[in-house]
Amino acid sequence: MVIKSKIRTIPDYPHQGIMFRDITTLLKDADGFYATIEALANRYRDVKIDKIVGIESRGFIIGAPLAYALGVGFVPVRKKGKLPSVTIGHDYQLEYGTDRIEIHTDAISSGEQILLVDDLIATGGTAEAAVALIQQVGGVVVECAFVIDLPDVGGRKRLEARGQTVFTLCEFEGD
Ligand code: PRP
Ligand code: MG
Repeated sequence: MVIKSKIRTIPDYPHQGIMFRDITTLLKDADGFYATIEALANRYRDVKIDKIVGIESRGFIIGAPLAYALGVGFVPVRKKGKLPSVTIGHDYQLEYGTDRIEIHTDAISSGEQILLVDDLIATGGTAEAAVALIQQVGGVVVECAFVIDLPDVGGRKRLEARGQTVFTLCEFEGD
């Protein structure tokens, strides 16, 4: 509840009719940022996790400190063309057109237990693409964790339909 109260809503950004959930107000607040990482770390402290995968760019802000807190490695999934070594990629649907995310093929060893982290799940398209990449390089996705769920948009259900478990710290429904 404390975490949710520190997330700002910007109406009509980036398009008319969109309620943008802005985590910058949570991040700039020392107690809010700490509580966010602690809430996630508390859930996973006793879970066997080898690495955290964070999705560019807002997923890095949450995933990297969580990896540090848990004492595990961090793997970036990046937008196309940003990773310098050998990669595999996965296209996913945006509101208009498609985008592509990529992972280094040597970022994860076969059988490693992976926690996928992003700031927010909306349609779940980005996270679904990241899950596919992790699995293609041999990782096992233990859970997908987000600060914010937008349940009306259906991303959680989409991931669950693919056999993933989803953990979120707060939800924004309707307006
Ligand atoms: C936003 C958000 C998630 C994704 C969720 O990222 O940070 O990564 O969209 O949407 P989905 O569940 O419908 O796929 P965005 O692509 O805007 O980029 P950013 O993190 O770099 O700001
Ligand atoms: Mg993002």
